[in-house]
Amino acid sequence: MPVIILGIESSCDETAAAVLVDGVVVSNVIASQEVHAQWGGVVPELASRAHQERIVGVVQEALATADLRKEDLSGIAFTSGPGLIGALLVGACFARSMAQALNVPLLAVDHVQAHVLAHWVRDAQPRSIPDGPLLNLTVSGGHTQLVVVNAPTDMQVIGSTLDDAAGEAFDKGAKVLGLPYPGGPLIDRYARAHIAGGGSEPLFPMPTPVVPGIDMSFSGIKTAFHQALRKRATADGSYITDHLPALCFTLQEAIIDHLASKTSRAMREQGLRALGLAGGVAANSGLRDRLGLLCAQEGWDLFVPPIAYCTDNAAMIAMGGHFLLEQGRCAGLDVVPKPRMA
Ligand code: KG4
Ligand code: ZN
Repeated sequence: MPVIILGIESSCDETAAAVLVDGVVVSNVIASQEVHAQWGGVVPELASRAHQERIVGVVQEALATADLRKEDLSGIAFTSGPGLIGALLVGACFARSMAQALNVPLLAVDHVQAHVLAHWVRDAQPRSIPDGPLLNLTVSGGHTQLVVVNAPTDMQVIGSTLDDAAGEAFDKGAKVLGLPYPGGPLIDRYARAHIAGGGSEPLFPMPTPVVPGIDMSFSGIKTAFHQALRKRATADGSYITDHLPALCFTLQEAIIDHLASKTSRAMREQGLRALGLAGGVAANSGLRDRLGLLCAQEGWDLFVPPIAYCTDNAAMIAMGGHFLLEQGRCAGLDVVPKPRMA
């Protein structure tokens, strides 16, 4: 009998559902919530409402694309946290009701761990899957962690950001440049244009965050960027428009320098030879290039899942459910989502 898992993701501003058959994606549906762009960030109340409106359609589409009926499901996985509590509740209530109605196991998946599990998600496109321990750099809009992954079901966080997440640093930097939310992809695009035009130096010096061990911090980078910009833009009204690609490059390099230096240190300290990159910021071309170079120099293997499994998605949640079911770690129907995990 194949193991067929429906995954449901609703922790932030994507309503997503995916079906995995024996760990292989057969459908992966995402409805992004454009409503937040006009507010410059995710508005929790609007996110909950949008999840309510879309969840039925998204789940139906995932099952239809997979050409499966709900009665075929072996289990239902959902994001149990961390995330926006109202948004999480929509997915949790839906998953609980569906599991009860179908009398199938309910699987409560940690969203940040699921980002790491993206490495094990398989689809029609062949790619190599980690087969030994690795260090994973998980970078998204809400999380920035270095995680030692011994196996999909055995991982330990060894370093985290002490303040903003890396994606937040991109988005907040983009906001002061007048770019729409989420600004990360735009910073990437402008920085790439700057490099393509031969640019390789930052416009002004940026600070190196001083944080003990392999923890990280991005608030100093954000503040320094903001202050340097304010000073120059006050003196010259068209400063930002005239220097946009170079400014994006300056911010991006500062964020990447910090991530790469902590990652490199953690790899050495842990004596690991495989590095994984996951989370929405894994889409950043500068970060991928820098880590690619580092791994090539050191002879380390680098694993980066396809972008569709890096940004928030339900395939990674279904993958988490698959592993939980394998271990018999099912949730009770009284399980409640948590905005923060312990
Ligand atoms: O993983 P994700 O979809 O959602 C969270 O769990 O937060 O990550 C979204 C974050 C946003 O901050 C977005 O700006 C950032 O990932 N992001 C990028 C790029 N693509 C997405 N940041 C930099 N460069 C990119 N190409
Ligand atoms: Zn996420």
